[in-house]
Amino acid sequence: MSTWWARGRRAWHRWRHPAPQPQLVLWYPRAAGPPTVGPLPAGMELRSFAAGDEPAWAGLLQANGELGVWDVARVERELAGDLIRVAQYFVVAEGNLVATTGVYARLRLDGPAYEIGWVAVAPAWRGRGLGAQVVAAAVRAALALPPRPVYLLTDDHRVPALKVYLRLGFRPDMSHPSYRGRWRRLARALGEAARVPSLDRDGALAENTPADSGRNR
Ligand SMILES: CC(C)(COP(=O)(O)OP(=O)(O)OC[C@H]1O[C@@H](n2cnc3c(N)ncnc32)[C@H](O)[C@@H]1OP(=O)(O)O)[C@@H](O)C(=O)NCCC(=O)NCCS
Repeated sequence: MSTWWARGRRAWHRWRHPAPQPQLVLWYPRAAGPPTVGPLPAGMELRSFAAGDEPAWAGLLQANGELGVWDVARVERELAGDLIRVAQYFVVAEGNLVATTGVYARLRLDGPAYEIGWVAVAPAWRGRGLGAQVVAAAVRAALALPPRPVYLLTDDHRVPALKVYLRLGFRPDMSHPSYRGRWRRLARALGEAARVPSLDRDGALAENTPADSGRNR
């Protein structure tokens, strides 16, 4: 009787206080080569970061509305951190920065890796494939740097972002016990984009660790 009571109390506690779940992880398989996307819409330009972009960059991230609070001071902190300055990309349309992402040097899988971070398209410019343009540019830049695994972190509710990543060739990581069920729940919203192979932790290591890095032995 007391065992049932204790089990019930534990189950109730788990239900009231669920363990925090990690963000979803996706890996770019190096063997796939650089991702390709169609041409940019006419009149737009893809370019990398230039000094002086800070206010417009902060404005784009802030206007995105889904990535927290941004101002120039925060962008400057990013520039002073793990961000790889030459591998930050923007789409420029009508003289404004309307899409961005870039490469960050991080530690992942117990070693150095490149994260593609802060993917954002201005709300008025979504649905034109600009997210894919900047992510593809950042992945190409990451693959041209000294070889390290390339990954992305994202959240279950970011269906548009997940579609972009899967279509570009990123593959879901299944290394956490929660991932398989979460991806299964996402499959309907993702449609065709979800029909890709996934990777467990060993698979992610094997497929993403460059042969000469010495970390996969
Ligand atoms: C994710 C984001 C960068 C995509 O940029 P984009 O240039 O609009 O991407 P695309 O034009 O390729 O559209 C992506 C797909 O999402 C779809 N989409 C848009 N809103 C959607 C929604 N609410 N639910 C489901 N799908 C949606 C688009 O229709 C398109 O899918 P389709 O080709 O099947 O129609 C942009 O939506 C964004 O800035 N989101 C907020 C910030 C964010 O989530 N960043 C990623 C952090 S990891």
